Amino acid sequence: MNGPRDILVTSALPYANGPIHLGHLVEYIQTDIWARFQRMRGHRCYYVCADDTHGTPIMLRAEVEQVAPEQLIARMQEEHLRDFTEFHIAFDNYYSTNSQENRALAEGIYLKLKARGLIESRTIEQLYDPVKNMFLPDRFIKGECPRCHGQDQYGDACEICGGTYQPTELINPYSALSGAAPIRKQSDHYFFRLRECEDFLREWTRAGHLQPEAANKLNEWFTAGLKNWDISRDAPYFGFEIPEAPGKYFYVWLDAPIGYMASFKNLCEHAELNFDAYWGAASKAELYHFIGKDILYFHALFWPALLHSSGYRTPSRIFAHGFLTVNGEKMSKSRGTFITARCYLDHINNPEYLRYYYAFKLNGTMEDIDLNLADFASRVNADLIGKYINIASRAAGFITRRFDGELAAPVHCPEDARALIQNSLDVAGPIAENYEGRNYGAVLREVMRVADTVNQYFDRHQPWLLEKDPVRKEELQLVCSKSLHAFYVLSVYLAPILPNLTERVARDLFGLDQGFNWRDLDTLPARIRPYRHLITRIDPKTIEALVAANRESLKPSTIAPAASRATETITVEDFGKIDLRIARIVSAELVEGADKLVKLTVDLGGAQRTIFAGIKSAYAPEQLVGRLTVVVANLASRKMRFGVSEGMVLAAGAGGKDIFLLNPDEGAQPGMRVK
Ligand code: 2FM
Ligand code: ZN
Repeated sequence: MNGPRDILVTSALPYANGPIHLGHLVEYIQTDIWARFQRMRGHRCYYVCADDTHGTPIMLRAEVEQVAPEQLIARMQEEHLRDFTEFHIAFDNYYSTNSQENRALAEGIYLKLKARGLIESRTIEQLYDPVKNMFLPDRFIKGECPRCHGQDQYGDACEICGGTYQPTELINPYSALSGAAPIRKQSDHYFFRLRECEDFLREWTRAGHLQPEAANKLNEWFTAGLKNWDISRDAPYFGFEIPEAPGKYFYVWLDAPIGYMASFKNLCEHAELNFDAYWGAASKAELYHFIGKDILYFHALFWPALLHSSGYRTPSRIFAHGFLTVNGEKMSKSRGTFITARCYLDHINNPEYLRYYYAFKLNGTMEDIDLNLADFASRVNADLIGKYINIASRAAGFITRRFDGELAAPVHCPEDARALIQNSLDVAGPIAENYEGRNYGAVLREVMRVADTVNQYFDRHQPWLLEKDPVRKEELQLVCSKSLHAFYVLSVYLAPILPNLTERVARDLFGLDQGFNWRDLDTLPARIRPYRHLITRIDPKTIEALVAANRESLKPSTIAPAASRATETITVEDFGKIDLRIARIVSAELVEGADKLVKLTVDLGGAQRTIFAGIKSAYAPEQLVGRLTVVVANLASRKMRFGVSEGMVLAAGAGGKDIFLLNPDEGAQPGMRVK
């Protein structure tokens, strides 16, 4: 091995407005395994991260909760760190982008860019909410899709037809915050002149800093043409005000990656490390960012350009990974597969099952990985426990009972015993290479292949029979000792993936108090301590319970932009203006060309109305005819592409199949006022 390397690794900073879920954990577990592996090899490897605290959604969520943003982000940071810690993610520092260090670094970078003529200001026009008095990010504007005319689509993309467009193209746009029709308003914005960095970026992105599939993606972006990047947002905004630009704030994506530096800077203050040795332009240290493929643009274009242009070093490599699917599909709240870290921990008390399964699936590419819940249980039970743990749980008892814990010395070994140990040590090189290349799936395949050979060796020698034959006592000791030596070697290999389990193996079985180090492969143990139970099989019922509980537990805590509407208080007088009436649905029919709509004719106690309702995903027309429901009877008529809608039916639910029409008791009569 060459001398120790100086390595700094990061994972993407999670937003401070939502819980950590299993999708996030793909990245943190992956990075943690890598960092632990590097440390085990004797390198200096620091792993830093932070909460990503700025931006409009966090500001609005704090408003919904009626707390200051600082209070919200402090609570979220605590929750996030608790979840990470319980998954054995060993950060050297977990910090916040809302920190003094980050403010100073962001301002410093901005001022350097400005001094180098890389910041330009331009007036742009955006949609503005006249009630909330704020510019609306695309996600907070809704309206009719200009392509397929689907209702209630977001300002940047339509979930029905998949079309993308400018928010200004939406038909009948409204603010998801106040419901008001937005107005167009001009404002001065600051742009980072990314186009000036094109030559540098073309070279950088082809110089081995990216995976091949990421480099291809970059080529597409170069072909499409780089655009200068708007790095400012108008007040009100939770973030850092831009120097000499009152009322203008750094866009969250400017100071988020700078948060990597800030977290490390904060670590330097406590750990007496030299910040410049890691971030200075002449740094010899290695810098790696683990990210999801969805934020490649920020990390492979903006970030190196910002760093290079402001006099810092650029990343050694960007390691992008794919998304998580669960049972082959996108994580889904209604299917119960949008599982939070906390919910997992509450139901399946062992985080290392998940670490094991993710490692098994990861291969260092940008491919998506699937958490198949049935496969998850059977892999853990059949491989981790049935193959690896099985070695120690079967062999240790003989050594403790018959030999007082003493293992046979590695002399006078018969050929098959020698080969067993040699084979298990021979894979150290390939396993280390696969760890280095983040191909943890290959690591585990090697480990399990060796475990198979050890179990076969053990079974072939039938120690349970040897124990009964006093003449073959030495053979019994040898077979069990060699199996335990191989178990020891495999435990070293597994340590980055299963830190807690292998630490207990190291301490409780082999008497090593520090946990395993790669150098422990050089010295096989001479004794064991009595075997103590290490890990229990997963009961598939706990997984079923997890899915069921998660399906429910997430419903009330969903914070969608529209949810903040609920906090806008109205007066009794306002409420009195709404004329809610019982109506009977007289007829219902599908609307040709509309994906969501059903055309209803409702009877309001004499008068009939036509209402177009977006409930097709939850109700077939024949389920609706004859039902009582509640309508807003005094809503101004709206001309739609398919006709005029003369009211609104009331329903609850998240959308899709989860739409529930309000259902009055049969005693209610059409036309009755709802109070
Ligand atoms: O996509 C996200 O979840 C962002 N919060 C990631 C930020 S990573 C880094 F740039 F800070
Ligand atoms: Zn559409």
